[in-house]
Amino acid sequence: MTQIKNICCIGAGYVGGPTMAVIAQKCPDVNVTVVDINEKRIAAWNDPNVENIPIYEPGLSEIVKEARDRNLFFSTDVNAAIDKADMIFISVNTPTKTYGIGKGMAADLKWIELCARQIAEVAKNDKIIVEKSTLPVRTAAALKDILDNTGNGVKYQILSNPEFLAEGTAVEDLQNPDRVLIGGDIDSPEGKEAMDALVNIYATWVPKENILTTNVWSSELSKLTANAFLAQRVSSINAMSELCEKTGADVNEVAKAVGMDSRVGSKFLKASVGFGGSCFQKDILNLVYIAKSFGLHEVADYWEQVILMNDHQKRRFAAKIVKTLYNTVSGKKIAILGWAFKKDTNDTRESAAIYVTDYLLSEQAEVVVYDPKVKPEQVYADLEYLCTHSSEEIRERVTVVQNADEACKEAHAIAVLTEWDEFKELNWKAVYENMLKPAFLFDGRRLLDKKTKEELGFEFFSIGN
Ligand code: NAD
Ligand code: UGA
Repeated sequence: MTQIKNICCIGAGYVGGPTMAVIAQKCPDVNVTVVDINEKRIAAWNDPNVENIPIYEPGLSEIVKEARDRNLFFSTDVNAAIDKADMIFISVNTPTKTYGIGKGMAADLKWIELCARQIAEVAKNDKIIVEKSTLPVRTAAALKDILDNTGNGVKYQILSNPEFLAEGTAVEDLQNPDRVLIGGDIDSPEGKEAMDALVNIYATWVPKENILTTNVWSSELSKLTANAFLAQRVSSINAMSELCEKTGADVNEVAKAVGMDSRVGSKFLKASVGFGGSCFQKDILNLVYIAKSFGLHEVADYWEQVILMNDHQKRRFAAKIVKTLYNTVSGKKIAILGWAFKKDTNDTRESAAIYVTDYLLSEQAEVVVYDPKVKPEQVYADLEYLCTHSSEEIRERVTVVQNADEACKEAHAIAVLTEWDEFKELNWKAVYENMLKPAFLFDGRRLLDKKTKEELGFEFFSIGN
């Protein structure tokens, strides 16, 4: 049986970093090296002060502290780590393509292919390659093609092992996963042996019955399907939130009533200003693209609606602010509480806050942002990336401050866009007193209690109520 001694993970991002930290913690006999071309990111993972690691996740710094320099290493020497490894995880970014065929829909596999070519160039002994990135179904075939055509006699087994962690709960999700999915060449002895080697790594801490093995295509497609189903639940409840606002129903009550049916289940039914994060949108767009490329237009249209609903939800929330403030926010101060796409992460990719703010800037608002974990430069970079407004205009109209009270001072309106716990605990009486009147409060997360806020004097609006 193949005993894995050395693991290399290419990509030290939100998935590679935490996933490898947990493997290193649980398997002290396995050497784990996480490599990246981003020198700044690797330097941050190696920062002597473990609180400065580049990714904020509850519980992560403690694990890094325990395993780093014992059997967990971060390095920019990609070739050396590939050469040494028996098993190589590919955990690089697979964003939506921004050019050429499939622009705006297909996954950009440029970085995946670069990894494969680099492995092919460097490897001198047989390797197990693990797709950790989320990939279009049948990517393993392309990887195999590149790796098998080097002519150097090295043999590769390609496994698919998609990651299901959610940011903000990454450590908990990795330590107690609902399931681990491993796809491989289940029909060949070599494929089976490679799968067993990976099963054995996870079996160190995950019960065997929670480790699922499938053929490689099922595994690749299951990841896209899982994200599509999750995002679809959010768009479904968000669609109902708009109907609730018209009819006097309360979306939280509807979600509870529906979710108590055990066939539906209660999780992932929280209405919001729209889902964000690096993956839901890109993975559904990728699914839509794959369906279209097989001529399955009804399948493509069905899933695309999840994205269209989400775009609508972000837009209608921003439009509601403008409409409520007497149809103009020009020159008005709007406080944005929360910039991350959800609480307990510093990740802002596709966060609803970016789109709401962009909309408000188009209406000439003066925006003041506060988020406990997001740095000012990230806020500016996110807005600049959209290319709707010039960098000068963004820096002139958007201010990023260090606490919520400062953001809300003398504001015409507040919009809560991330459900950080600390926003519940603000001294809302003082916040109200320091605002211009009427003081408008828009809760995009159903975080705050309507009754008590109205008693304080706020004009209160929340999604789905
Ligand atoms: P990320 O952008 O945070 O990290 C990717 C890293 O890969 C970057 O640091 C980049 O510099 C590095 N990289 C790219 N090409 C490289 C190369 N050739 N050599 C060395 N390093 C290279 O991305 P992420 O959020 O960690 O996501 C990675 C993959 O995991 C994506 O496919 C994503 O869909 C999937 N995924 C993400 C999450 C999540 O919560 N973020 C969850 C499940 C799955
Ligand atoms: C999601 C999935 O939950 C993970 O299983 C998956 O591995 C990951 O995508 C991925 O592939 O990247 P993540 O995006 O980190 O994880 O976070 P979620 O908790 O799923 O939240 C996504 C977005 O939906 C957030 O903006 C969140 O606020 C929003 N959301 C979630 C709602 O608006 N309502 C809900 O009920 C749940």
